[in-house]
Amino acid sequence: MPFEKKILCIGAGYVGGPTMAVIAQKCPQHKVSVVDINPERISEWNSDDLPIYEPGLSEIVKEVRGRNLFFRTDIGEGIKEADIIFVSVNTPTKDYGVGAGKAADLQYWEQTARQIVEFSHSPKIIVEKSTVPVKTAQAMERIVRSESNDTKFDVLSNPEFLSEGTAVNDLQNPDRVLIGSMETESGLKARDTLVEIYANWVPRERIITTNIWSSELSKLAANAFLAQRVSSINSISALCEKTDADITEVATAIGMDSRVGDKFLNASVGFGGSCFQKDILNLVYLCRYYGLEEVADYWESVVRINQYQQERFIFKVLNAMFNTLSGKRICLFGFAFKANTGDTRESPAIFIAKKLLEENATIVITDPEALRNARADLEGVNSNIDYIEDPHEAARGCHAIAVMTEWDLYRSLDFKRIYDGMVKPAFIFDGRNILNHAELFEIGFNVFPIGKPAMTHF
Ligand code: NAD
Ligand code: UGA
Repeated sequence: MPFEKKILCIGAGYVGGPTMAVIAQKCPQHKVSVVDINPERISEWNSDDLPIYEPGLSEIVKEVRGRNLFFRTDIGEGIKEADIIFVSVNTPTKDYGVGAGKAADLQYWEQTARQIVEFSHSPKIIVEKSTVPVKTAQAMERIVRSESNDTKFDVLSNPEFLSEGTAVNDLQNPDRVLIGSMETESGLKARDTLVEIYANWVPRERIITTNIWSSELSKLAANAFLAQRVSSINSISALCEKTDADITEVATAIGMDSRVGDKFLNASVGFGGSCFQKDILNLVYLCRYYGLEEVADYWESVVRINQYQQERFIFKVLNAMFNTLSGKRICLFGFAFKANTGDTRESPAIFIAKKLLEENATIVITDPEALRNARADLEGVNSNIDYIEDPHEAARGCHAIAVMTEWDLYRSLDFKRIYDGMVKPAFIFDGRNILNHAELFEIGFNVFPIGKPAMTHF
């Protein structure tokens, strides 16, 4: 049976790979191809060792790869045959020129626009999957329509809301799918085509359609709101530590108000991940561009509090350990920016690790999925780093443990055994509040949670 539609995704990363795997799984009638400029990434997607760790993903890839999901390197051919092209390339914060440190770097985005024009000879629907500044669709339209090529292009915005670690479930059962389009006859028709794809598995009432600028802005605003909740609770955690209030109790009390809700109120060493900070900075840049200084300052404070929370953590370690870390061994439990992923992009653990090394400490890093990325992040930084997969082994001979990632496995370790193997006095800094602090204290640890009174034997 020939395929009904040919779907292409440009960018085989954390979004492109899982998103297309789920579309292929739910739409066996369509051919789904994923291309990337990085041929190594493509060959990893074609192997048993996928380039990203995401629970449940490898099973889906095994089920659909070669059936109607294809990871390929022939970008031009892929574009030529496609009816719908998702663009899911990276849009990092710009680190050069105008807007450095704030604006989105759209160079990869623009490259794909030019590739699309070069290879297109039949009508295409181009779908913005990457997170982009508001009005990017306009730039895409201008580029693809600027050539003498009379191919018909429609540009849609369809931001992705998946979270790493739960990506498969988020894609299979999304809270909502958002599709923004131009409000022209052709734009609305393209929008309906994309709605039909998602309607294969997403209930219609969860597929929302808006104008294209609302869709682009909603993505930036959604991440800003989520990050703001984390910074809000983290800011209160600082006050808890000064007043003997307990952040878990405060969060429960706040979250039980149904208007506030109880999600995303876990105080932590800080938020990480490739998107929260970059998307807020992007929002801040946009606000300043439009002269909205107060609005920009407001959102920028979310990033400032996040930085402050990480610095606070380091000061706490330093103060508690008699103001010197020189020559001490400190074990980081977790390096990923959150549990159930091997992704370490913007992980607070990177900042903490570098600061500990600056204090002349030796660090031991353990993580069930992120050691490969941790090594890459810290390459050339310092040689006082050991990477040890088994947390019991990793903590042996250490003066302190700092929990960076909320991996479930850390909740059920044999902490008596760990304590016995450590240098005394032994410290635990729980940057995720996932451990049983009273039990650790009983064992003999000096325990420093986030936003709760410390428990020390001094
Ligand atoms: P990523 O870095 O994992 O993947 C991007 C891929 O695009 C890379 O493999 C890169 O080689 C490829 N690429 C770059 N330029 C290309 C080109 N011209 N042609 C072909 N391939 C090219 O990034 P990601 O995490 O998947 O994020 C992609 C976008 O999705 C970003 O805009 C991000 O903000 C957004 N987003 C990410 C997440 C997430 O959880 N990671 C969630 C929602 C939205
Ligand atoms: C986030 C959003 O949740 C997704 O909706 C969005 O699609 C994605 O960004 C994106 O655009 O990239 P993600 O970064 O994968 O997803 O993970 P989150 O679960 O949002 O966690 C982000 C960070 O906040 C992590 O470091 C996490 O540990 C931290 N966090 C989260 C807290 O410290 N406390 C909380 O209560 C929740």
